[in-house]
Amino acid sequence: MKQDIEFLAPLYAKADVNFVKGKGAWLFDSKGKEYLDFASGISVNALGHSHPAIIKAIKKQSEKFLHLSNLFPNEPQIKLAKKMLSLTKFGKEKGKAFFCNSGAEANEAAIKFARKYFFSKGEKNRVEIISFVNSFHGRTYGSLAATGQEKLKIGFGAMPAGFKHVEWNDAEALKKAVGKNTAAIMLEPVVAEGGVLMPSKKFIKTINDLKKQNGCLVVADEIQMGVGRCGAISCSELYGIKADITTWAKPLGGGLPLGMVLMSADIAKNLQPGDHGTTFGGNPVSCAAGLAALEIISKPKFLKNVLERSVQLRAGLEVLAKKYKFLGEIRGEGLLFGIETQKPVADLVAACRNQRLLVLRAGTNVLRLLPPLTITKNEAKEALKRMETAFSIFPLDEK
Ligand SMILES: Cc1ncc(COP(=O)(O)O)c(C=O)c1O
Repeated sequence: MKQDIEFLAPLYAKADVNFVKGKGAWLFDSKGKEYLDFASGISVNALGHSHPAIIKAIKKQSEKFLHLSNLFPNEPQIKLAKKMLSLTKFGKEKGKAFFCNSGAEANEAAIKFARKYFFSKGEKNRVEIISFVNSFHGRTYGSLAATGQEKLKIGFGAMPAGFKHVEWNDAEALKKAVGKNTAAIMLEPVVAEGGVLMPSKKFIKTINDLKKQNGCLVVADEIQMGVGRCGAISCSELYGIKADITTWAKPLGGGLPLGMVLMSADIAKNLQPGDHGTTFGGNPVSCAAGLAALEIISKPKFLKNVLERSVQLRAGLEVLAKKYKFLGEIRGEGLLFGIETQKPVADLVAACRNQRLLVLRAGTNVLRLLPPLTITKNEAKEALKRMETAFSIFPLDEK
């Protein structure tokens, strides 16, 4: 859109389409054309667009108050914290929650809490955070320093000290990197933005063993995979990763901005008023919307649909990958899919958009699908059909 270019900083390569309305898995442009949304606002719209339960919760809370600050308790925060704790291992461990506004902020807080934990124990040099090549943890300085993609740091000066990156799935390199100053190993259970890279069982075992032997903490970034996308509430728990801190955002606010850190009781007890904070974090309307979404997502029947649609889509994608030589390995968990391609991903994303199917890229050569978790069998079928039509503009045997 011309006005977008005129008034907004050119930080995004935006598609030239003007959406005016959304309903479920569908978006409608100003000409009334329907698009099947397999991007979900980059994993935010877990229940699709305009879900009635979320709208109702937003209306109800907004009639009470929009904002209080964190100087006073508010009920939606308490309810959402209680619910998230009860749905994860942190509930049983008497863990605690911290609310913020976004994924980057949640990771920023997690890094600070991990360092403060060791500081409080008298281990003042234990500040090092070890994360992984190709990971994505956010754009603020701490979360960017943890991010394992050097290209994103160019031009922004020195990153904060105390961050190391190890190749993903390289258990031996990780063993070498962890030492007496390691505060935490920080990982996405599935490296999402960086190419949909799965962890090996050996790698997860190494992380858990290192935590035990070295005493370092484990921080799991659940921001893209958590809250149902993997077919469970917690992807790190699904994979048996023994995290001390988990970070959440994207779908957590039901479509409104919200981030969260869940931490063990041991970590929480070292934090004091004034150590960290935020004006907007845990906004009551966002928490009410998030709670309404979570009540639905956490139902076993809902999560079963995620897994069933996952099987259906994977089978359909395998057929496409057999047919078109330029498609390669299909990776993912639940309703995150990455399809390797030898063609420029931007061309495939555009071809899908021409068929009114919205998809994303991941890394340099991976097409990423992030449908809403509510998709039906027919919508999954329709997406596969549109993808097939989109790919048919390329010759079958072309690499
Ligand atoms: C795994 C992961 N961590 C952190 C972030 C950063 O979240 P936000 O954009 O809300 O700051 C993202 C965003 O894509 C993400 O996928």
